[in-house]
Amino acid sequence: MFEGIGIVVGVSGGIAAYRACDLVRLLVKDGMDVHVVMTEAGARFISPLTFRALSGHDVGLDIFGTSESIGHIALARKAKAIVIAPATANTIAKLAHGMADNLLTALSLAARVPVLVAPAMNSAMWENPATRENVVTLKRRGVRIIGPAAGEMACGEHGEGKLADAGAIAETVRMAVALPKDFAGKRFVVNSGPTREPLDPVRFISNRSSGRMGTAMARALALRGAEVTFVHGPSEVPPPMGVRAVSVETAEEMRSKTIGAWKRADGAVLVAAVADFKPVASAAHKIKKAAAVPAFSLVETRDILAEMGKNKGKRFLCGFAAETRDLVKNASEKLREKNLDMVVANDVSGKAGGFGSTQNAVTVLTKGGARFEVPLSDKDAVAWALADVISGEMIHGRRKTNAR
Ligand code: CTP
Repeated sequence: MFEGIGIVVGVSGGIAAYRACDLVRLLVKDGMDVHVVMTEAGARFISPLTFRALSGHDVGLDIFGTSESIGHIALARKAKAIVIAPATANTIAKLAHGMADNLLTALSLAARVPVLVAPAMNSAMWENPATRENVVTLKRRGVRIIGPAAGEMACGEHGEGKLADAGAIAETVRMAVALPKDFAGKRFVVNSGPTREPLDPVRFISNRSSGRMGTAMARALALRGAEVTFVHGPSEVPPPMGVRAVSVETAEEMRSKTIGAWKRADGAVLVAAVADFKPVASAAHKIKKAAAVPAFSLVETRDILAEMGKNKGKRFLCGFAAETRDLVKNASEKLREKNLDMVVANDVSGKAGGFGSTQNAVTVLTKGGARFEVPLSDKDAVAWALADVISGEMIHGRRKTNAR
Protein backbone atom coordinates (compact mmCIF):
# COMPACT_ATOMS: atom_id res chain seq x y z
CA MET A 1 0.00 0.00 0.00
CA PHE A 2 2.84 2.40 0.78
CA GLU A 3 5.78 0.64 -0.85
CA GLY A 4 8.49 3.01 -2.10
CA ILE A 5 6.69 6.23 -1.18
CA GLY A 6 9.30 8.91 -0.39
CA ILE A 7 8.91 10.70 2.95
CA VAL A 8 11.09 13.30 4.62
CA VAL A 9 11.02 13.13 8.42
CA GLY A 10 12.28 16.37 9.96
CA VAL A 11 13.61 16.22 13.51
CA SER A 12 14.10 19.48 15.35
CA GLY A 13 15.66 20.01 18.76
CA GLY A 14 13.60 18.83 21.69
CA ILE A 15 13.70 16.00 24.17
CA ALA A 16 10.96 14.29 22.14
CA ALA A 17 13.49 13.83 19.30
CA TYR A 18 14.07 10.25 20.49
CA ARG A 19 10.41 9.47 19.85
CA ALA A 20 10.91 10.24 16.17
CA CYS A 21 12.79 6.91 16.08
CA ASP A 22 9.47 5.09 16.50
CA LEU A 23 7.90 7.17 13.75
CA VAL A 24 10.73 6.36 11.32
CA ARG A 25 10.52 2.70 12.23
CA LEU A 26 6.76 2.59 11.56
CA LEU A 27 7.06 4.31 8.19
CA VAL A 28 9.97 2.08 7.15
CA LYS A 29 7.91 -0.96 8.19
CA ASP A 30 5.22 0.20 5.75
CA GLY A 31 7.86 0.06 3.00
CA MET A 32 8.23 3.83 2.70
CA ASP A 33 11.51 5.37 1.56
CA VAL A 34 12.25 7.51 4.61
CA HIS A 35 14.90 10.23 4.66
CA VAL A 36 15.60 12.00 7.91
CA VAL A 37 16.64 15.64 8.05
CA MET A 38 17.73 17.06 11.41
CA THR A 39 18.29 20.55 12.67
CA GLU A 40 21.53 21.22 14.50
CA ALA A 41 19.65 21.24 17.81
CA GLY A 42 17.87 18.00 16.89
CA ALA A 43 21.24 16.33 16.32
CA ARG A 44 22.30 17.36 19.84
CA PHE A 45 19.44 15.39 21.35
CA ILE A 46 19.89 12.21 19.36
CA SER A 47 22.66 10.95 17.14
CA PRO A 48 22.06 11.08 13.37
CA LEU A 49 23.63 7.63 13.34
CA THR A 50 20.49 6.25 14.99
CA PHE A 51 18.31 7.61 12.20
CA ARG A 52 20.77 6.41 9.58
CA ALA A 53 20.47 2.91 10.99
CA LEU A 54 16.67 3.07 11.15
CA SER A 55 16.07 4.65 7.75
CA GLY A 56 18.93 3.09 5.79
CA HIS A 57 19.93 6.50 4.44
CA ASP A 58 22.40 9.21 5.41
CA VAL A 59 20.81 11.90 7.51
CA GLY A 60 20.53 15.43 6.10
CA LEU A 61 22.09 17.97 8.42
CA ASP A 62 23.84 20.69 6.50
CA ILE A 63 22.35 23.21 4.14
CA PHE A 64 25.68 24.42 2.82
CA GLY A 65 26.94 22.84 -0.29
CA THR A 66 27.73 19.20 0.52
CA SER A 67 26.69 16.81 -2.19
CA GLU A 68 24.62 15.06 0.46
CA SER A 69 22.47 18.14 1.10
CA ILE A 70 21.97 18.73 -2.62
CA GLY A 71 20.81 15.14 -2.76
CA HIS A 72 18.30 15.97 -0.11
CA ILE A 73 16.87 18.87 -2.09
CA ALA A 74 16.36 16.49 -4.98
CA LEU A 75 14.77 14.12 -2.53
CA ALA A 76 12.36 16.80 -1.31
CA ARG A 77 11.12 17.03 -4.87
CA LYS A 78 10.54 13.29 -5.00
CA ALA A 79 9.06 13.01 -1.50
CA LYS A 80 5.31 12.75 -1.22
CA ALA A 81 5.20 14.47 2.19
CA ILE A 82 7.38 16.16 4.78
CA VAL A 83 6.58 15.40 8.40
CA ILE A 84 8.32 17.37 11.12
CA ALA A 85 8.27 15.50 14.43
CA PRO A 86 9.09 16.90 16.87
CA ALA A 87 8.57 20.47 15.70
CA THR A 88 9.83 22.94 18.31
CA ALA A 89 8.36 26.41 18.88
CA ASN A 90 11.45 27.76 17.13
CA THR A 91 11.01 25.61 14.01
CA ILE A 92 7.27 26.40 13.91
CA ALA A 93 8.08 30.12 14.10
CA LYS A 94 10.56 29.79 11.24
CA LEU A 95 8.06 27.87 9.09
CA ALA A 96 5.36 30.46 9.77
CA HIS A 97 7.68 33.23 8.64
CA GLY A 98 9.02 31.44 5.59
CA MET A 99 12.54 31.28 6.91
CA ALA A 100 15.04 28.91 5.34
CA ASP A 101 18.10 29.02 7.56
CA ASN A 102 18.69 25.29 7.83
CA LEU A 103 18.17 22.26 5.64
CA LEU A 104 14.84 21.33 7.21
CA THR A 105 13.23 24.78 6.94
CA ALA A 106 14.68 25.22 3.44
CA LEU A 107 13.18 21.91 2.31
CA SER A 108 9.84 22.80 3.85
CA LEU A 109 9.81 26.17 2.08
CA ALA A 110 10.71 24.52 -1.23
CA ALA A 111 8.13 21.74 -0.83
CA ARG A 112 5.14 21.39 -3.10
CA VAL A 113 3.89 18.40 -1.15
CA PRO A 114 1.89 18.17 2.10
CA VAL A 115 3.82 19.39 5.15
CA LEU A 116 2.74 17.82 8.43
CA VAL A 117 3.89 19.27 11.71
CA ALA A 118 3.82 17.50 15.09
CA PRO A 119 4.66 20.12 17.73
CA ALA A 120 6.43 19.24 20.98
CA MET A 121 7.37 21.81 23.57
CA ASN A 122 6.83 22.98 27.11
CA SER A 123 3.15 23.89 27.63
CA ALA A 124 3.94 27.53 28.38
CA MET A 125 5.66 27.82 25.00
CA TRP A 126 2.74 26.04 23.32
CA GLU A 127 0.23 28.40 24.94
CA ASN A 128 2.22 31.52 24.19
CA PRO A 129 0.29 33.77 21.77
CA ALA A 130 3.32 33.91 19.49
CA THR A 131 3.24 30.11 18.99
CA ARG A 132 -0.56 30.14 18.78
CA GLU A 133 -0.48 32.70 15.98
CA ASN A 134 2.27 30.85 14.15
CA VAL A 135 0.24 27.64 14.30
CA VAL A 136 -2.86 29.43 13.00
CA THR A 137 -0.77 30.84 10.14
CA LEU A 138 0.51 27.38 9.24
CA LYS A 139 -2.97 25.84 9.39
CA ARG A 140 -4.30 28.59 7.14
CA ARG A 141 -1.65 27.68 4.60
CA GLY A 142 -2.76 24.05 4.63
CA VAL A 143 -0.10 22.67 6.95
CA ARG A 144 -1.51 19.75 8.92
CA ILE A 145 -0.86 20.08 12.67
CA ILE A 146 -0.78 16.75 14.54
CA GLY A 147 -1.34 17.05 18.28
CA PRO A 148 0.24 18.00 20.59
CA ALA A 149 -1.01 15.71 23.34
CA ALA A 150 -1.55 16.60 26.96
CA GLY A 151 0.19 14.90 29.88
CA GLU A 152 3.31 14.99 31.94
CA MET A 153 6.20 16.69 30.15
CA ALA A 154 9.92 16.02 30.35
CA CYS A 155 10.27 19.15 32.51
CA GLY A 156 7.89 17.63 35.08
CA GLU A 157 4.99 19.99 34.33
CA HIS A 158 1.56 18.79 33.24
CA GLY A 159 -0.12 20.34 30.25
CA GLU A 160 -0.49 20.38 26.50
CA GLY A 161 2.67 20.17 24.43
CA LYS A 162 3.72 16.53 24.33
CA LEU A 163 4.59 15.03 20.95
CA ALA A 164 1.60 13.11 19.58
CA ASP A 165 1.81 9.34 19.63
CA ALA A 166 4.12 7.98 16.89
CA GLY A 167 1.31 5.68 15.67
CA ALA A 168 -1.05 8.64 15.23
CA ILE A 169 1.60 10.67 13.39
CA ALA A 170 2.37 7.72 11.10
CA GLU A 171 -1.34 7.20 10.35
CA THR A 172 -1.73 10.90 9.48
CA VAL A 173 1.21 10.56 7.09
CA ARG A 174 -0.43 7.50 5.51
CA MET A 175 -3.70 9.41 5.10
CA ALA A 176 -1.79 12.21 3.34
CA VAL A 177 0.13 10.00 0.90
CA ALA A 178 -2.17 7.03 0.25
CA LEU A 179 -3.12 6.64 -3.38
CA PRO A 180 -5.38 6.36 -5.26
CA LYS A 181 -7.90 8.81 -3.81
CA ASP A 182 -10.57 7.15 -5.91
CA PHE A 183 -13.28 7.57 -3.26
CA ALA A 184 -12.81 11.33 -2.83
CA GLY A 185 -16.23 12.97 -2.57
CA LYS A 186 -17.95 9.63 -1.85
CA ARG A 187 -19.79 8.95 1.38
CA PHE A 188 -19.74 5.46 2.83
CA VAL A 189 -21.22 3.74 5.81
CA VAL A 190 -19.27 0.77 7.10
CA ASN A 191 -20.47 -1.29 10.03
CA SER A 192 -18.33 -3.65 11.99
CA GLY A 193 -17.80 -5.87 15.01
CA PRO A 194 -20.18 -8.01 17.01
CA THR A 195 -23.39 -6.90 18.66
CA ARG A 196 -24.41 -7.70 22.21
CA GLU A 197 -27.95 -8.71 23.04
CA PRO A 198 -28.54 -8.36 26.80
CA LEU A 199 -30.02 -11.14 28.91
CA ASP A 200 -29.80 -9.06 32.07
CA PRO A 201 -27.66 -6.04 33.09
CA VAL A 202 -24.47 -8.13 33.20
CA ARG A 203 -24.93 -10.90 30.63
CA PHE A 204 -25.34 -10.89 26.88
CA ILE A 205 -25.36 -13.05 23.74
CA SER A 206 -22.61 -12.15 21.30
CA ASN A 207 -20.21 -13.73 18.81
CA ARG A 208 -16.51 -14.09 18.05
CA SER A 209 -16.15 -11.10 15.72
CA SER A 210 -13.12 -8.97 16.71
CA GLY A 211 -14.12 -6.00 14.52
CA ARG A 212 -10.74 -6.16 12.72
CA MET A 213 -12.08 -6.73 9.20
CA GLY A 214 -14.64 -3.91 9.40
CA THR A 215 -12.08 -1.57 10.91
CA ALA A 216 -9.65 -2.38 8.09
CA MET A 217 -12.43 -1.81 5.53
CA ALA A 218 -13.36 1.61 6.94
CA ARG A 219 -9.68 2.55 7.09
CA ALA A 220 -9.00 1.53 3.46
CA LEU A 221 -11.93 3.61 2.21
CA ALA A 222 -10.88 6.60 4.35
CA LEU A 223 -7.24 6.34 3.18
CA ARG A 224 -8.57 6.47 -0.37
CA GLY A 225 -10.51 9.67 0.26
CA ALA A 226 -13.99 8.50 1.27
CA GLU A 227 -16.00 10.21 3.97
CA VAL A 228 -16.78 7.24 6.19
CA THR A 229 -19.35 6.80 8.95
CA PHE A 230 -18.15 3.83 10.93
CA VAL A 231 -20.80 2.15 13.06
CA HIS A 232 -19.10 -0.36 15.33
CA GLY A 233 -20.05 -2.81 18.02
CA PRO A 234 -17.68 -3.64 20.92
CA SER A 235 -14.43 -4.47 19.13
CA GLU A 236 -10.93 -5.59 20.03
CA VAL A 237 -9.38 -2.76 18.02
CA PRO A 238 -10.04 1.00 18.13
CA PRO A 239 -11.81 2.72 15.23
CA PRO A 240 -9.50 3.93 12.48
CA MET A 241 -8.37 7.52 12.19
CA GLY A 242 -10.18 9.83 9.81
CA VAL A 243 -13.69 8.34 10.10
CA ARG A 244 -16.82 9.41 11.94
CA ALA A 245 -17.05 6.62 14.51
CA VAL A 246 -20.39 5.73 16.07
CA SER A 247 -20.32 3.18 18.87
CA VAL A 248 -23.30 0.85 19.33
CA GLU A 249 -24.08 -2.27 21.26
CA THR A 250 -27.25 -4.06 20.20
CA ALA A 251 -28.45 -5.18 16.77
CA GLU A 252 -31.26 -2.64 16.96
CA GLU A 253 -28.81 0.22 17.66
CA MET A 254 -26.60 -1.06 14.85
CA ARG A 255 -29.62 -0.98 12.56
CA SER A 256 -30.74 2.54 13.43
CA LYS A 257 -27.24 4.11 13.14
CA THR A 258 -26.33 2.22 9.97
CA ILE A 259 -29.59 3.04 8.22
CA GLY A 260 -29.39 6.64 9.48
CA ALA A 261 -26.01 7.10 7.78
CA TRP A 262 -27.13 5.16 4.68
CA LYS A 263 -29.68 7.90 3.91
CA ARG A 264 -26.93 10.26 2.78
CA ALA A 265 -24.39 7.70 1.60
CA ASP A 266 -23.18 6.70 -1.87
CA GLY A 267 -22.25 3.25 -0.71
CA ALA A 268 -22.23 0.86 2.23
CA VAL A 269 -20.13 -2.10 3.29
CA LEU A 270 -21.78 -4.11 6.05
CA VAL A 271 -19.11 -6.14 7.77
CA ALA A 272 -20.76 -6.38 11.18
CA ALA A 273 -21.55 -9.78 12.63
CA VAL A 274 -25.03 -8.73 13.69
CA ALA A 275 -26.80 -11.09 16.08
CA ASP A 276 -29.53 -13.00 14.25
CA PHE A 277 -31.44 -13.66 17.45
CA LYS A 278 -32.00 -11.71 20.62
CA PRO A 279 -33.76 -12.52 23.91
CA VAL A 280 -37.43 -11.61 23.85
CA ALA A 281 -36.80 -9.49 26.93
CA SER A 282 -33.83 -8.53 29.03
CA ALA A 283 -34.26 -8.96 32.81
CA ALA A 284 -34.24 -5.64 34.64
CA HIS A 285 -32.05 -7.05 37.43
CA LYS A 286 -29.25 -9.58 37.52
CA ILE A 287 -30.67 -13.09 37.30
CA LYS A 288 -29.76 -14.84 40.56
CA LYS A 289 -28.26 -18.30 40.77
CA ALA A 290 -30.63 -19.24 43.59
CA ALA A 291 -33.58 -19.07 41.22
CA ALA A 292 -34.31 -21.92 38.80
CA VAL A 293 -32.05 -22.30 35.75
CA PRO A 294 -33.50 -19.74 33.36
CA ALA A 295 -34.85 -20.57 29.92
CA PHE A 296 -34.57 -17.82 27.34
CA SER A 297 -36.89 -17.31 24.43
CA LEU A 298 -35.29 -15.72 21.41
CA VAL A 299 -36.70 -13.67 18.56
CA GLU A 300 -35.11 -12.83 15.25
CA THR A 301 -33.44 -9.44 14.85
CA ARG A 302 -34.15 -7.35 11.79
CA ASP A 303 -31.82 -7.91 8.84
CA ILE A 304 -30.19 -4.52 8.23
CA LEU A 305 -28.56 -5.48 4.96
CA ALA A 306 -31.74 -6.91 3.47
CA GLU A 307 -33.62 -3.77 4.47
CA MET A 308 -31.00 -1.57 2.80
CA GLY A 309 -31.10 -3.75 -0.32
CA LYS A 310 -34.83 -3.09 -0.69
CA ASN A 311 -34.45 0.65 -1.16
CA LYS A 312 -30.95 0.65 -2.60
CA GLY A 313 -31.58 2.77 -5.66
CA LYS A 314 -28.29 3.55 -7.40
CA ARG A 315 -26.25 3.29 -4.23
CA PHE A 316 -23.54 0.63 -3.95
CA LEU A 317 -24.25 -2.07 -1.42
CA CYS A 318 -21.76 -4.68 -0.29
CA GLY A 319 -22.40 -7.34 2.32
CA PHE A 320 -20.29 -10.03 3.91
CA ALA A 321 -21.26 -13.67 4.14
CA ALA A 322 -19.89 -15.54 7.13
CA GLU A 323 -20.02 -19.22 6.24
CA THR A 324 -18.71 -22.45 7.63
CA ARG A 325 -19.65 -24.54 4.57
CA ASP A 326 -20.83 -24.14 0.94
CA LEU A 327 -19.12 -20.75 0.91
CA VAL A 328 -19.77 -19.66 -2.67
CA LYS A 329 -23.25 -21.16 -2.95
CA ASN A 330 -24.47 -19.54 0.28
CA ALA A 331 -22.79 -16.23 -0.51
CA SER A 332 -24.30 -16.02 -3.98
CA GLU A 333 -27.73 -16.67 -2.46
CA LYS A 334 -27.18 -13.74 -0.07
CA LEU A 335 -26.04 -11.57 -2.99
CA ARG A 336 -29.27 -12.27 -4.83
CA GLU A 337 -31.74 -12.39 -1.96
CA LYS A 338 -30.48 -9.20 -0.29
CA ASN A 339 -30.17 -7.33 -3.63
CA LEU A 340 -26.45 -6.58 -3.24
CA ASP A 341 -23.90 -5.28 -5.72
CA MET A 342 -21.18 -7.35 -4.13
CA VAL A 343 -20.73 -9.98 -1.45
CA VAL A 344 -17.55 -10.92 0.36
CA ALA A 345 -17.60 -14.57 1.34
CA ASN A 346 -15.70 -15.28 4.48
CA ASP A 347 -14.88 -18.77 5.75
CA VAL A 348 -15.38 -18.51 9.51
CA SER A 349 -14.91 -22.20 10.27
CA GLY A 350 -11.61 -21.26 11.91
CA LYS A 351 -9.28 -23.04 9.46
CA ALA A 352 -7.45 -19.89 8.33
CA GLY A 353 -8.26 -16.26 8.92
CA GLY A 354 -11.79 -15.06 9.61
CA PHE A 355 -13.24 -14.33 13.04
CA GLY A 356 -10.74 -13.25 15.67
CA SER A 357 -7.73 -13.55 13.34
CA THR A 358 -5.55 -10.71 12.01
CA GLN A 359 -5.70 -12.36 8.60
CA ASN A 360 -8.40 -13.28 6.16
CA ALA A 361 -8.94 -15.00 2.82
CA VAL A 362 -12.11 -14.13 0.93
CA THR A 363 -14.00 -14.79 -2.26
CA VAL A 364 -15.77 -11.79 -3.79
CA LEU A 365 -18.83 -12.18 -5.97
CA THR A 366 -20.41 -9.29 -7.83
CA LYS A 367 -23.90 -8.75 -9.14
CA GLY A 368 -22.51 -8.79 -12.68
CA GLY A 369 -21.21 -12.32 -12.18
CA ALA A 370 -17.52 -11.55 -11.61
CA ARG A 371 -15.56 -13.54 -9.06
CA PHE A 372 -12.35 -12.53 -7.28
CA GLU A 373 -10.20 -14.51 -4.91
CA VAL A 374 -8.25 -12.62 -2.26
CA PRO A 375 -5.64 -14.99 -0.80
CA LEU A 376 -4.82 -15.20 2.91
CA SER A 377 -3.33 -11.83 3.88
CA ASP A 378 -3.46 -9.26 6.66
CA LYS A 379 -6.94 -7.79 6.97
CA ASP A 380 -5.60 -4.35 5.92
CA ALA A 381 -4.34 -5.86 2.65
CA VAL A 382 -7.64 -7.73 2.15
CA ALA A 383 -9.58 -4.50 2.73
CA TRP A 384 -7.38 -2.69 0.22
CA ALA A 385 -8.07 -5.40 -2.37
CA LEU A 386 -11.81 -5.13 -1.62
CA ALA A 387 -11.60 -1.35 -2.09
CA ASP A 388 -10.02 -2.04 -5.50
CA VAL A 389 -13.02 -4.19 -6.46
CA ILE A 390 -15.53 -1.66 -5.08
CA SER A 391 -13.78 1.10 -6.99
CA GLY A 392 -13.83 -0.96 -10.19
CA GLU A 393 -17.51 -1.79 -9.80
CA MET A 394 -18.81 1.47 -8.40
CA ILE A 395 -16.69 4.17 -9.94
CA HIS A 396 -15.30 2.73 -13.13
CA GLY A 397 -18.19 0.36 -13.85
CA ARG A 398 -15.70 -2.35 -14.74
CA ARG A 399 -16.52 -6.03 -14.76
CA LYS A 400 -13.55 -8.28 -14.43
CA THR A 401 -12.52 -11.42 -12.66
CA ASN A 402 -9.37 -13.00 -11.32
CA ALA A 403 -10.85 -16.42 -10.70
CA ARG A 404 -9.79 -19.32 -12.84
N1 CTP B 1 -26.69 -8.80 8.44
C1 CTP B 1 -27.45 -7.69 8.79
N2 CTP B 1 -28.40 -7.79 9.76
C2 CTP B 1 -28.63 -8.94 10.38
C3 CTP B 1 -27.88 -10.10 10.04
C4 CTP B 1 -26.91 -9.99 9.07
O1 CTP B 1 -27.24 -6.62 8.22
N3 CTP B 1 -29.56 -8.99 11.33
C5 CTP B 1 -25.68 -8.65 7.39
C6 CTP B 1 -24.25 -8.86 7.85
O2 CTP B 1 -23.67 -7.63 8.28
C7 CTP B 1 -23.56 -9.37 6.59
C8 CTP B 1 -24.68 -10.11 5.88
O3 CTP B 1 -25.91 -9.62 6.43
O4 CTP B 1 -23.14 -8.31 5.75
C9 CTP B 1 -24.64 -11.60 6.01
O5 CTP B 1 -24.58 -11.98 7.36
P1 CTP B 1 -24.39 -13.50 7.74
O6 CTP B 1 -24.28 -13.61 9.24
O7 CTP B 1 -23.33 -14.13 6.92
O8 CTP B 1 -25.72 -14.18 7.24
P2 CTP B 1 -27.23 -14.04 7.61
O9 CTP B 1 -27.89 -13.18 6.60
O10 CTP B 1 -27.39 -13.66 9.03
O11 CTP B 1 -27.72 -15.53 7.35
P3 CTP B 1 -27.21 -16.91 8.01
O12 CTP B 1 -26.88 -16.57 9.45
O13 CTP B 1 -28.38 -17.80 7.88
O14 CTP B 1 -26.02 -17.38 7.24
